[in-house]
Amino acid sequence: MSGRDGTEWRKPVIVGEDVKPFMKEEHIYPPEYEGHFDGVMITCAEIHERIQQLATLIHTDYKGIRPVLVCTLKGASPFYIHLSDALKEIRQGFDMEFVRASSYEGTATSGQVEFVGELKMNSLQGRHILLIEDIVDTGTTLSALIPMLQQQGNPAGVEVCSLLDKRLEVKKYEAKYVGFSIPNKFVIGYGLDYEELYRDLKDIFVISQLGISFDASTLH
Ligand code: HPA
Ligand code: MG
Repeated sequence: MSGRDGTEWRKPVIVGEDVKPFMKEEHIYPPEYEGHFDGVMITCAEIHERIQQLATLIHTDYKGIRPVLVCTLKGASPFYIHLSDALKEIRQGFDMEFVRASSYEGTATSGQVEFVGELKMNSLQGRHILLIEDIVDTGTTLSALIPMLQQQGNPAGVEVCSLLDKRLEVKKYEAKYVGFSIPNKFVIGYGLDYEELYRDLKDIFVISQLGISFDASTLH
């Protein structure tokens, strides 16, 4: 256990550029996904080990504070569930809120973000918000969501805990707590989708060409 004080744990686990080859006997997945993975980015065992460390860091930092954990749906939901379980084990209290963010390309050249859901802004007044994200990619979602929460919710603070952080040249936002720093590849599983598929996987994979071209309307 390197760094009992958590200094080592504050740095994300770096996932290298060379992705581990996919070996079908090592993973559990629905049969309809056969051939849809090119490589393994992060296994569920690695995710769960890292979640324990993140929970410990959060508990250390929120001493005497009861944060509002805001889950960004849908992608962050498995991470949110497992992280909140780890917090319960170490007696860290928290409140639960959910927001649904969808970024879409409008007619303008820049991506726009829309928020739907039942997040009550008055529940955030004076509170410490910890936004739980699946992935920080360009940061477009967070650079819209955080100002919105600050302006409409008037919280005491907003921090972000993201399972993944994609290594890109230009980033609009850096999360305070990051599980894994990953190469710039499209990943699926553990909540992360490609056109709404693959959220129901235990591990995080790199999608294959077959996965990209798969016609989801054949599933019933
Ligand atoms: N996978 C799934 N969803 C995403 C990704 C990704 O790599 N990046 C941003 N949203
Ligand atoms: Mg998505």
